[in-house]
Amino acid sequence: MHRRASAIDDFTGGWALVSGAARAEGLGFAFAGQLAAAGLNLVLTDVLDDELSARAGELAARFGVEVRTAACDLGEAAPYPAIEQAVADIDVDVLVCNHMYTPAETPPILDMPLETHSRMIDINARGYTNLIHRFGTDMRTRGRGAIVVVASGAGLTSAPYTAAYSANKAFQIALGEALWYEMRGTGVDVLVMVGGLMNTQGDALDRYPRYPIAEPEDVVREVISAVGRKHLVVPGVANRMFLLAQTRLMSRRRTVSVIGGFMARGLGKS
Ligand SMILES: NC(=O)c1ccc[n+]([C@@H]2O[C@H](COP(=O)([O-])OP(=O)(O)OC[C@H]3O[C@@H](n4cnc5c(N)ncnc54)[C@H](OP(=O)(O)O)[C@@H]3O)[C@@H](O)[C@H]2O)c1
Repeated sequence: MHRRASAIDDFTGGWALVSGAARAEGLGFAFAGQLAAAGLNLVLTDVLDDELSARAGELAARFGVEVRTAACDLGEAAPYPAIEQAVADIDVDVLVCNHMYTPAETPPILDMPLETHSRMIDINARGYTNLIHRFGTDMRTRGRGAIVVVASGAGLTSAPYTAAYSANKAFQIALGEALWYEMRGTGVDVLVMVGGLMNTQGDALDRYPRYPIAEPEDVVREVISAVGRKHLVVPGVANRMFLLAQTRLMSRRRTVSVIGGFMARGLGKS
């Protein structure tokens, strides 16, 4: 039987919406680039308006696809007017939920202001739900589409000193996996990406060992090829080995202790 190179190829000539796509070194921009290379037109959304326009111009010039921007704060209540305006005359076939708000400082849970916790939940949990609900219902009606939920290994285990992030990612994984199950047979593929450390943060990862840090282009290649074939993808060998140890070989108590030590070193906590 003929096997498609990627289910994403089915959407060539259609439209993809990628959230959190404004930063040149970010994963969202890498997704946008590879989707554009596959011939999809793009709606890019992010809170960073000027950077978003710059990225859109670069992709349109490089790949000859149409690229629209919708700058908005995904922590606001839905619907998002800028996104609605951008998609008014198109169908979105591919949704990549990738945006993420993480504060520069990640203190222990009770030392992080409650407003910061709330803002993270608004953007990272509610914002994902808002986009998935908005475009997932349309896809289900049309009987075609693909949704990629960009989560993290930090959502499969608990990560002290970045616990709010970890909890937000656990939300995304739980929502995405259940969505995959519920959408089987509808024509809509759902894929949860459980990412490890990636080279998207400039020097912010300087204190971590280098070997587990993946390049975003490699990660996106692996994720895109898994659409329509898997329900969850853990890109990168080092990431898979870490998660195997953390989720299968160690007790949860041991895992949270090991990760606590790793995060303390990585984030420079005493
Ligand atoms: N980098 C890693 O090591 C790693 C590991 C595992 C998983 N991931 C996941 O991969 C995804 C991309 O990560 P990345 O490292 O490429 O991060 P990133 O560049 O920070 O991407 C996130 C984008 O979302 C934007 N954003 C923040 N708040 C927003 C809001 N309220 N509304 C709309 N957009 C908003 C960010 O803008 P600002 O720059 O203004 O915040 C940024 O442009 C995230 O979901 C992340 O959790 C990353």
